[in-house]
Parts: sequence; structure tokens; C-alpha cells
Amino acid sequence: MTKYEQIKKDLLVNPKTWLVTGVAGFIGSNLLEHLLKLNQTVIGLDNFATGHQHNLDEVEGEVTAEQWARFTFYEGDIRSLDACKQTVSGADYVLHQAALGSVPRSINDPATTNDVNISGFLNMLIAARDEKVESFTYAASSSTYGDHPALPKVEENIGNPLSPYAVTKYVNELYADVFAKTYDFNTVGLRYFNVFGKRQDPNGAYAAVIPKWTAAMIEGEEVFVNGDGETSRDFCFIENVVQMNILASIADKEAKNNVFNVAVGDRTTLNTLYDSIQNALNSNCIVCDSKPTYRDFRAGDVRHSQADITKAKTLLGFEPQFRIQEGIDKAMPWYIKFLNEKS
Ligand SMILES: NC(=O)c1ccc[n+]([C@@H]2O[C@H](COP(=O)([O-])OP(=O)(O)OC[C@H]3O[C@@H](n4cnc5c(N)ncnc54)[C@H](O)[C@@H]3O)[C@@H](O)[C@H]2O)c1
Repeated sequence: MTKYEQIKKDLLVNPKTWLVTGVAGFIGSNLLEHLLKLNQTVIGLDNFATGHQHNLDEVEGEVTAEQWARFTFYEGDIRSLDACKQTVSGADYVLHQAALGSVPRSINDPATTNDVNISGFLNMLIAARDEKVESFTYAASSSTYGDHPALPKVEENIGNPLSPYAVTKYVNELYADVFAKTYDFNTVGLRYFNVFGKRQDPNGAYAAVIPKWTAAMIEGEEVFVNGDGETSRDFCFIENVVQMNILASIADKEAKNNVFNVAVGDRTTLNTLYDSIQNALNSNCIVCDSKPTYRDFRAGDVRHSQADITKAKTLLGFEPQFRIQEGIDKAMPWYIKFLNEKS
């Protein structure tokens, strides 16, 4: 039995109370679904800045009425310390996901990204410290590697940030580290590498590449590749991310007050990704044989990204269960259904 399976078994016997911020978003709603299916009590906080009520409705449809009754939702903003204090009350573990994602959004509006991602983060840290929660696990980002050229990325070697978003995620790590040392408080930062899966929003100017391309292919629209298509990423399926959040929260004290890469350790180019999505759609009877349109590289993007996940494997017992193709195959039916229902 893997460490993750053992922990899930233990949680079923001895359920806990979890606060998930950003619960109406992509990652938050998947965390909610997994935790409720493990019969945990979950408190959720979101202001619907980029999250959706339909994500919560979908989770309700995936769990039993009894499991759904263990969920309490607060509509509120992490920029309010009062909202953070109210929602963290009674929580054993915090999974802090609420933030404004997207490098281009942060370049267009650095002030709002700063307010939410730094001031909001600090509010949640203060509230969680005062509540004396067992641990505070937060969404960090691979963007913290910035211009550091080494591949694969090892946690200790970071470069200079390339966007306001990357600055905010690095400041989160600095604050978490200072809180850990100053207040004897348990924090764990999870540097996510291009997460994807069901409920990742395909709409809007700041949509991530996999949902954006999938929607464009299904709707017969032009697909744009920024640069020559040889830019590469370590795409990480959502269920690996859920595993890391649970492992990090339950981890022993020695593994706490750390940051971990959350990825698979693979490197996929955008050109390969394009073919993978197209093949998965064709396998689901969506005929799609268009070619991508190449355009300029995008400001703030790093050229290559690939994680070394040795630290997560060694200290947390992380075993990613899904590589990119398996994840895409699992996610495609959801996208096809979601986009059909929308049209
Ligand atoms: N998806 C990725 O590939 C990826 C990669 C690296 C880091 N991350 C981080 O993971 C976290 C979750 O990202 P996601 O992909 O699920 O994005 P998302 O936009 O789907 O979810 C973020 C959620 O936070 C909520 N939120 C935003 N501002 C808020 C505020 N002021 N108060 C309360 N709630 C607020 C949004 O409404 C949304 O529901 C973020 O911190 C993001 O920076 C994501």
C-alpha cells in the first residue's frame, strides 16, 4: 500500500476539518471533491473572482447528500482579515489556493495581483497562525524558478522572477518561511507546474493552454501557439496535485516548513501537446485535423520547465499516478460534455 493510500484510509477512520480557499476554482473544487469523498469536513472560501458556482454544483452532484452536508461555504475575500479569521475557525488543516493566477493578468494589472496574492496570503497566514491549525499548505508556483537556466528544476536553485505573478508567489514562500521560524508554525509550499484537469476554466483571456486549446479545437476555432512550439512544460494532472496537498498536510514535522515541486518529472513541448489533445479528441469521435497558428513568444514566459520531484518522493512519499497522456485522456470527456452543454 502506498503512503497516500494509507493516509486516505486513516482519514476515513479519523476525519478532520479542512479549510480550502479558492474552493470554487479549478484546483480548489477538485480538492473539495476528494476530501468530501473521504468523509472529511470542509470549509470553503471564495469570492468568485475567477471561480464559479457551477464548479461547486458539480461537486455536489459527485458526492452523497451526507458528504455534501459536511461542506460549509463562505463567499468572501482573502483581502479581508475578518473573512479569513471567520472561515479558518475550527479547521485542522488549511489548503490555501485562492489567488489571481496568470502571468499575463499580472503584467496587465500588477496591483490587484499583488493585493490578492500577497496581502490576501498574509491575512490567511495570520488567521491560520492565530487559529493554531496543524498545518498551512499553500499553492506556490514553478514561476519562482524565473530565469534560472538549470533543468530539471531543483527546489533550492531559483533565479529572478520574470513577472509580477512570479514575484507574488516567491513572496508567499518568504512569508511562509518567516512565519514557520518566528511563530513555530507549520507551512508547506507546493510549487505547482502547469496543472490541468476537469473544471479548469477554458474561457476568458487568461485561460491556461490545455483548456484553451481543447475548447478551440472542439469549437473549430484557430489555435495559437506562442513562439515556435518547442517551449516545454512539465504538465501535471490534477489528481497528482490532490495527492500532494493531502501528503503535505499530514506530513511529519521534519517534512514541514519546506517547499516541494509538484509535477511528474516529464517535459512536453507545445507541439507534442497539440498532437496529444488532437488525438484524444479524435478518440472521443471529435474530428479535428487543423494545424496550429504560430505567433510571437509571450512576455514573461519561461522557455523550458521540468521538475525534479525527488524531494517530494523522499520526504512525502509522493508517487504521481498520472502522466500527461493519461491525464489528457481522463480530462477530455469532461471538456466535451462541458462545452456541449454550454453551446
Ligand atoms: N493551475 C495551475 O497550473 C497553477 C500553477 C501554479 C500555481 N497555481 C496556483 O494554484 C492556485 C489555484 O489555481 P487554479 O488554477 O485553481 O485557479 P482558479 O482561478 O481556478 O482558482 C483560484 C480561486 O481563487 C479564488 N479567488 C481569487 N481571488 C480571491 C480573493 N481575493 N478572495 C477569495 N477567493 C479568491 C477565485 O475565485 C478562484 O475560485 C492559485 O494560487 C494559483 O496561483 C496554479
